[in-house]
Amino acid sequence: MKRFFFFFGVFAFLLLVVGGSFAFWKLSPFIFARSASAPLIAVLGEPVRLPAPSVEGTVSLEETLAKRRSVRAFENRAVPLGHLGQLLWAAQGITLPEKGYRTAPSAMSTYPLRVYAVVESVADLPPGFYAYLPENHSLIPVFSGPAKERAMTAIRQPWILSAPVVLIITGRYEQLEATLGDTARFCVDAETGHASQNVYLQATALGLGTVSAGGINGEALKEAFSIPAEETPLYAMPVGYPKQE
Ligand SMILES: Cc1cc2nc3c(=O)[nH]c(=O)nc-3n(C[C@H](O)[C@H](O)[C@H](O)COP(=O)(O)O)c2cc1C
Repeated sequence: MKRFFFFFGVFAFLLLVVGGSFAFWKLSPFIFARSASAPLIAVLGEPVRLPAPSVEGTVSLEETLAKRRSVRAFENRAVPLGHLGQLLWAAQGITLPEKGYRTAPSAMSTYPLRVYAVVESVADLPPGFYAYLPENHSLIPVFSGPAKERAMTAIRQPWILSAPVVLIITGRYEQLEATLGDTARFCVDAETGHASQNVYLQATALGLGTVSAGGINGEALKEAFSIPAEETPLYAMPVGYPKQE
């Protein structure tokens, strides 16, 4: 009888371990989100699938370059969800899925950046703070509610207040230090510049405006939205329809 209880106990324990692991594996995408080697972030709800990005446009690259300008005054007008998706794709979208390569170049394909969106007025998207997941071109809700007011405590630049959406680009220095040593900081900063320029050009081509704001309080921003410790906020990019002066 003792033996029976012993084997039954072992069987029940194994069932619990295997079943529990399977349940965690199945549910984990809804609890945490991981992008490439990025740290985990707590997830608030279901991911929001973004419309597929367009890979053709009507404005030439030369015209876009000639028109690109930093914009700091925005109309009180919502940005379509497809435009937000297009901007995020321009920043970090995957363009060669079999290798995971993205729209912006990356030192040794390490991809140490993450892009977030502080949403105030985007069509069909509740206000909040979202993380972009390049792997399935979706947004992961991280904070729900009036996120821009929170962001303002960290980004003390008044023109950002009038933008319907603000992109935040973070970088992970330590992740690259293991492979790139002393050049890690330069590589992360340079890559942020590539991603940011893509956003500038994509915004211009869509008739939107933006500015790359480096004068932000990264620590306050991390605290406001529980951004993982490994990430350093590097740029805030308010986006919206330029206000005609
Ligand atoms: C590294 C870097 C940091 C910047 N930081 C800010 C900033 O904090 N706030 C801002 O309004 N513009 C910022 N800018 C934008 C510059 O002010 C802008 O590019 C410059 O005035 C030239 O104007 P243009 O972009 O229209 O050509 C920054 C640009 C760079 C490259």
